[in-house]
Amino acid sequence: MARVAVVTGGTRGIGEAISRMLKDDGFTVVANYAGNEAKARDFTARTGIAAYRWDVGDHEATLAGCAQIAAEVGPIDVVVNNAGITRDGVLHKMSFEDWNEVMRINLGGCFNMAKATFPGMRERGWGRIVNIGSINGQAGQYGQVNYAAAKSGIHGFTKALAQEGAKYGVTVNAIAPGYIDTDMVAAVPAPVLEKIVAKIPVGRLGQAEEIARGVSFLCSDSAGFVTGSTMSINGGQHMY
Ligand code: CAA
Repeated sequence: MARVAVVTGGTRGIGEAISRMLKDDGFTVVANYAGNEAKARDFTARTGIAAYRWDVGDHEATLAGCAQIAAEVGPIDVVVNNAGITRDGVLHKMSFEDWNEVMRINLGGCFNMAKATFPGMRERGWGRIVNIGSINGQAGQYGQVNYAAAKSGIHGFTKALAQEGAKYGVTVNAIAPGYIDTDMVAAVPAPVLEKIVAKIPVGRLGQAEEIARGVSFLCSDSAGFVTGSTMSINGGQHMY
């Protein structure tokens, strides 16, 4: 039977590319989404991939969502923690809510998903967790203390959980994307984005499929010796 993979924020942007590629790899993929019902319906119609709605920052909702998937689709073998938001602003203008929402969803979402699925992977002796971090969690970014802290936290979370999963066949890795051609990056003011792109040695934004390819590798059987690692896919913008 095909292994079951859940991709959070899996109906749009990088998440959509990951969902599609894991399906091509032979997984039974379920995409989670938080709010955009119309996009999710369109995604399912185009791809045939089921979409389940809940907020990954909500602990109880995440436990319930994963339990529903386990009952309706099968035990969850692969989790890609991709769901994330930005609430950019310099610290002196940033509200506590903007800080808290980014921490709750981007970092809290990884904890909630792991709580819901890691024990089962551990018991069954096989699992893959891939957390989507960011270049801005590695290098920091002006106007992103919340996002950089959450993404940096994801990299620490990855290395800690990898140690707990290793002897049970559960690998935990992170990918740190650079600036990828998605709605999230399109929201950066054009003059700011132009300056950022000018500093990318490869000379362009990345494509969502270029991140998905890395996830696909980390979820494969042949990546069983790779754990606790961070794969940077950023066009050479930050060599770390
Ligand atoms: N370093 C130093 N100074 C900077 C700077 C930088 N990187 N960027 C801006 N400044 C300076 C500006 O020059 C300006 O200075 P002056 O007032 O002296 O001219 C000052 O900071 C204010 O700049 P803004 O006008 O941009 O300030 P703002 O309050 O209107 O906006 C901001 C601030 C919202 C943070 C805006 O700069 C912004 O959106 N920056 C982009 C942040 C970013 O890269 N986000 C990534 C989103 S995509 C993502 O996160 C995905 C991923 O994982 C990569």
